[in-house]
Amino acid sequence: MSNKLFRNALTKLPQPLSRQLLIAQQKAPDALGYFDAFTVSYWCDELGISLLEFAKILLPLATSFSVAPVSNFHVGAVAIDTEGNCYLGANFEFVDTHIGQTIHAEQSAIAHAWSRGAITLKLLVINYSPCGHCRQFINEVNLADDFCILLPNSQPQPLSYYLPEAFGPSDLGMSERILGKQKQPNNNNNNDNELLTMAKWACENSHAPYSHSYSGIALQYPNHETVIGRYAENAAFNPSLPPLQMALNYRRLQGKDWKTIEKAILVEKTQCLSQKDNTEHLLNSISDVSLQYEKITG
Ligand code: THU
Ligand code: ZN
Repeated sequence: MSNKLFRNALTKLPQPLSRQLLIAQQKAPDALGYFDAFTVSYWCDELGISLLEFAKILLPLATSFSVAPVSNFHVGAVAIDTEGNCYLGANFEFVDTHIGQTIHAEQSAIAHAWSRGAITLKLLVINYSPCGHCRQFINEVNLADDFCILLPNSQPQPLSYYLPEAFGPSDLGMSERILGKQKQPNNNNNNDNELLTMAKWACENSHAPYSHSYSGIALQYPNHETVIGRYAENAAFNPSLPPLQMALNYRRLQGKDWKTIEKAILVEKTQCLSQKDNTEHLLNSISDVSLQYEKITG
């Protein structure tokens, strides 16, 4: 992947952070885009800086994960949960499919946090102002009361500053949020039969309170590695994030090759919508693997 880009970004950080993070990240190759709260607070103390300043330092690392063959415009984001864990994210564009399949950096960092089991976010740092679509996407997430967005040359501001007079879940009578009451995601099964079980888990634990059309995907990679992705529906519908995007995003932020898919299973429990066509389309644009599909009832 962008290991090279990541390493380049890492070497430009202040010393001794740069050298030590390089060593730490080599020891945790599955977690290239993740910094746990303990590491973060150690470095804040060591460098004598605040969490906000540290998060800004991580932005070039986040941006190094960007895949932008259409725009060549690279966006990075860092989501921080209430425990202080940092989840990097970047924009992710796909060719040979439609533009709506794109993942924005803000969605990427939030989906990454969801993939790793975060429950409440308190800060999102971004290197560009968030677009309207992202402001709306963020409004679906379980946020701390003091949640803020931070841009490199601004003061932290609450979401209400970026999204005044917001339309959101409560307008549709919904209190459930993405991340909210999550069970620890199961990303680790390595048995072929269990890929389906993982996809079912992803489906059952997706966020689709408006349509009740739940969907989840499990991807298998070489060496029996797997990732799952869950549908993240939005009250305004269009900023929703489909399950394949979430799975590819997580794989990429682990620092691994995301195109070497060996198997893909999409599971849906649908009322009125389906992710099947767009998932097949995106999968076909990156891989020769055909999508296995299962519909569950109940
Ligand atoms: N982009 C983001 O990642 N976040 C934003 O809020 C602004 C736009 C990305 C999407 C697309 O990959 C590229 O920047 C150009 O719009
Ligand atoms: Zn956006």
